[in-house]
Amino acid sequence: MDLTPIVTALRQAQHVVVFTGAGASAESGIPTFRDALSGLWARFDATKLATAEAFRADPSLCWGWYEWRRRKVLQAQPNAAHQAIAQLARHVPRLTVITQNVDDLHERAGSAGVIHLHGSLHAPRCLDCGQPYRAALPSAALAEGGCRIEPPRCAACQGYVRPGVVWFGEPLPEAQWAAALDAAQGCDLLLSVGTSGLVYPAAELPLQALRCRATVAHINPQRFAVSAQAYFLQGAAGAVMAALLAQAFA
Ligand code: APR
Repeated sequence: MDLTPIVTALRQAQHVVVFTGAGASAESGIPTFRDALSGLWARFDATKLATAEAFRADPSLCWGWYEWRRRKVLQAQPNAAHQAIAQLARHVPRLTVITQNVDDLHERAGSAGVIHLHGSLHAPRCLDCGQPYRAALPSAALAEGGCRIEPPRCAACQGYVRPGVVWFGEPLPEAQWAAALDAAQGCDLLLSVGTSGLVYPAAELPLQALRCRATVAHINPQRFAVSAQAYFLQGAAGAVMAALLAQAFA
């Protein structure tokens, strides 16, 4: 794989955007949304559990699934991709990290000011009144394979507490989306790392960067069609990001 054009772009860029998806956390053991689910969740499709309808239809199934994911995140460590992205901030004049992930692995690797387009597993709130739920969640008690869990109730209105993530069909948080769009339209290089590019509006960001004449590279072990002007670096996020950093700034 020839990294030269991206290595050159990295050295010259004034503003780099790294845009990550579930594949960036895959090497930390967090399943992507396209992986087949196991155990209790085997007969469900992740993209169908991540909806308001799924929560309303079966709150304890949906909350149990999110708590299982949250447990996986609590047990996980940032991987080589998260580390390389955090290190990149020391080498380029400006770096903006935009993620679709609801974990905190970028922050735990040392990235600051991460834009979370799809919310966070660690910020539950009331389904009805929106009040943040601040009581501790009993993560240690969560079963390894996952189980149904009745969601807690809101202290203010007794509504169900829901995960603080953006479900399919819900709008993105406005301020985060505006900041992400601004960064994509103003950067000279956008690295799209470990995302299937199927979920809009987030998938619009690399296209916006291209329209504004930035260099765009997709990093993914699974090849897919990209715009004619974009680069595709085939490989796992950790290995490719580490190689880019090593070649650009050794
Ligand atoms: N390194 C890089 N990419 C990887 C790796 C890896 N080690 N392993 C898997 N991938 C790639 C897969 O090939 C796939 O293209 O990660 C991508 C994951 O795709 P999705 O699961 O669709 O994740 P994402 O693109 O982040 O989905 C967007 O959709 O489900 C919603 O809100 C959820 O944020 C999520 C959004």
